[in-house]
Amino acid sequence: MNAAPSILTPAKIGPVEIRNRIVTSSMCLYFSGKNGEVTDKMTAFFVNRAKGGMGAFIIPANPHGENKRARGSLADDSRIAQWKPLLDAVHGAGAKVFCQIHPSSTQFGRKEFKSETSPFELTSTELQSLIESYAIGALRAKKAGFDGVEIHGAHGHEVALLLSELLNTRTDLYGGTLENCARSVTEMVIRMKELCGADFPVILRVSGEERIPGGRKLPESLKICQLVQKAGADAIHVSSGMPQSEEWECPPSEVEQGHLAWMGKALKEKLKIPVIVVGRVVNWEVGERMVDHGEADFIAVARASLAEARWADSISHLAKGEFYPVRKCIGCNQGCRTRREQNKSMAACLQNPVLGQEELLHITEDLKGKNVRVAVIGGGVAGLEAANVLSKRGARVTVFERENRLGGTFYWASKAPGKASYTNVIEYYEKLLPSQGVTIVLNRALDAVPEGDLVVLATGGDPIVPPIPIDESVKVWNALDFIKRNVFDAGRYVIVGDGIVGYEVADAVAERGKEAVVVGNDPRDPVATLGVARWHFMEKRFAESGVTLVRRSTVKSIDAKGLTVRDEEGVETRVEGKGPFECVLACGYKPASPEFIEKFQRNGVRTLLVGNAEKSGDAMDAIHGAFDKTISLAFGARG
Ligand SMILES: Cc1cc2nc3c(=O)[nH]c(=O)nc-3n(C[C@H](O)[C@H](O)[C@H](O)COP(=O)(O)OP(=O)(O)OC[C@H]3O[C@@H](n4cnc5c(N)ncnc54)[C@H](O)[C@@H]3O)c2cc1C
Ligand SMILES: Cc1cc2nc3c(=O)[nH]c(=O)nc-3n(C[C@H](O)[C@H](O)[C@H](O)COP(=O)(O)O)c2cc1C
Ligand code: SF4
Repeated sequence: MNAAPSILTPAKIGPVEIRNRIVTSSMCLYFSGKNGEVTDKMTAFFVNRAKGGMGAFIIPANPHGENKRARGSLADDSRIAQWKPLLDAVHGAGAKVFCQIHPSSTQFGRKEFKSETSPFELTSTELQSLIESYAIGALRAKKAGFDGVEIHGAHGHEVALLLSELLNTRTDLYGGTLENCARSVTEMVIRMKELCGADFPVILRVSGEERIPGGRKLPESLKICQLVQKAGADAIHVSSGMPQSEEWECPPSEVEQGHLAWMGKALKEKLKIPVIVVGRVVNWEVGERMVDHGEADFIAVARASLAEARWADSISHLAKGEFYPVRKCIGCNQGCRTRREQNKSMAACLQNPVLGQEELLHITEDLKGKNVRVAVIGGGVAGLEAANVLSKRGARVTVFERENRLGGTFYWASKAPGKASYTNVIEYYEKLLPSQGVTIVLNRALDAVPEGDLVVLATGGDPIVPPIPIDESVKVWNALDFIKRNVFDAGRYVIVGDGIVGYEVADAVAERGKEAVVVGNDPRDPVATLGVARWHFMEKRFAESGVTLVRRSTVKSIDAKGLTVRDEEGVETRVEGKGPFECVLACGYKPASPEFIEKFQRNGVRTLLVGNAEKSGDAMDAIHGAFDKTISLAFGARG
């Protein structure tokens, strides 16, 4: 490619020029203080990405109501000053910052929130004061130093509800027809312009399609955008989904990159103002194509910027074919959505352990020149992350892997339906580690310790085999061997274990159109195990192909005709189907045995256990655990 990529050319929102077409869309990361304070954590996060080349950020702040950790507050005038250090630092790094005026209550429609959060019960006067509070929020944002604001009209928050012809039950001027449903937003735009001035940009974020039964489609969203444009808005930011269709707000790996490009094209054809388009843009070429093909003026990048702070900076290098390893978001939602929501904790990322701690954690080259030699045994994600950190610190690291490829179990996880992009995690290490001087030795199973200062035992766990009497006529596999074998010649499968691996095996079976029964005693619902987005698509496949879940139950025995299961109350039942079946055990992993570990400790070299070799967990546990253990590991006098 000769010319600079189109995605890196400057463009304007209203009068505000942005240095390129890349915007980090709004995310409630829970990096704020518990009363909505702007923290060093927030500043570090945004400044690192501004230095990493992002053109602009859209940062959420609530204009009214209760202040929370989810986002910074602009709920009263006393909150204006707290934004200055962050905004100065981000501006200093060349990026622009818009404030997403984000309601303080959360989405209506999620079962954990009560109906009081509905804006449909407000009187007309109360609704008008809500509109005014958004406008005052915009004025505070202007005073704080933001370059513009975004009205959060997507994903089922109060504005999205008011915009929804399907859900809006108001009978006054703010409900009923599409024009009436759009009125609160058009009035907001007009009032924001009155208070902040015509040249202070206002963006509307809208779900182009609500993706709920009977929900709004793009042609009606276009009409809303036209009304809002007429009211004076400076840009439209198109997303999709409502709380009941979260799989479209934060789509999983199986949804194609740039999946909303078609919406951007349709909107751009009819609107005069710029259109920002979000939606799983991970490979920069996808964003480039969208800009080149008239599908977007700006690309919004959310999760990809959590995984990689230098995402935007990588583009000019990658476009010239230069070496620039980047962590590519795999759409797993594990750290940024599922755990964040389940634990009410900060957003994290499966593959980027520094996210959320960027103000604190810096890998220093403290081992440089000290001739510290490290042998990492096992090239799964835990071993690779340990090798990454220790080599960055300056140790001489060699990774020994018994297979002919890196990645361990996670490589095989990527073979499950819709998870091909999971190999991004492994490819990143494959590129990065040799550039940091790490020697990779494949096809080498070690069972004794090489010379050195430290052995990192990253050999993974051993599959747990439950003591279930199984008739010898039934073929039995452990889950990993089954996935590796990739042969699905039985008519039916019984899968024992309803953790992530059990479901993934069932999904692989379902993809081949075969029947499966999954039996397990995990108390969590599958949606909790897999996350909303992945479960949504998997559940559909299960229904189509005939996967049955027998939950909160233990398998007592398996014979040629079927199995006997016992539920939580101790009631035993038979599960039988037609014809023969095979059995797959997905009952988890146990850590490396003491005898195994001892083999590596014989010559007195220090040993560090990481990943599943230390304790059973998923890939995020393995990567984060390896990072935590190696970043500050002290070495003796020689080291
Ligand atoms: C089907 C499936 C789907 C999954 N999906 C997900 C998911 O969506 N999200 C998630 O977070 N987790 C998922 N997991 C779990 C995840 O893959 C594991 O938790 C994680 O990969 C464990 O990493 P590890 O590095 O600790 O161990 P492993 O990946 O087991 O790596 C150990 C490595 O050590 C090598 N080794 C062992 N002994 C020796 C020796 N003596 N010498 C040299 N090399 C040796 C092995 O060959 C292997 O490469 C899934 C697992 C499966 C099976
Ligand atoms: C942790 C997290 C928090 C989010 N919070 C918000 C939010 O406050 N406002 C909003 O409009 N969208 C929010 N989103 C949605 C993102 O802005 C974005 O639309 C979505 O992640 C899809 O883009 P991506 O595929 O680039 O990640 C959030 C997404 C994530 C991952
Ligand atoms: S946790 Fe998964 S989806 Fe979220 S940013 Fe990281 S890789 Fe992407």
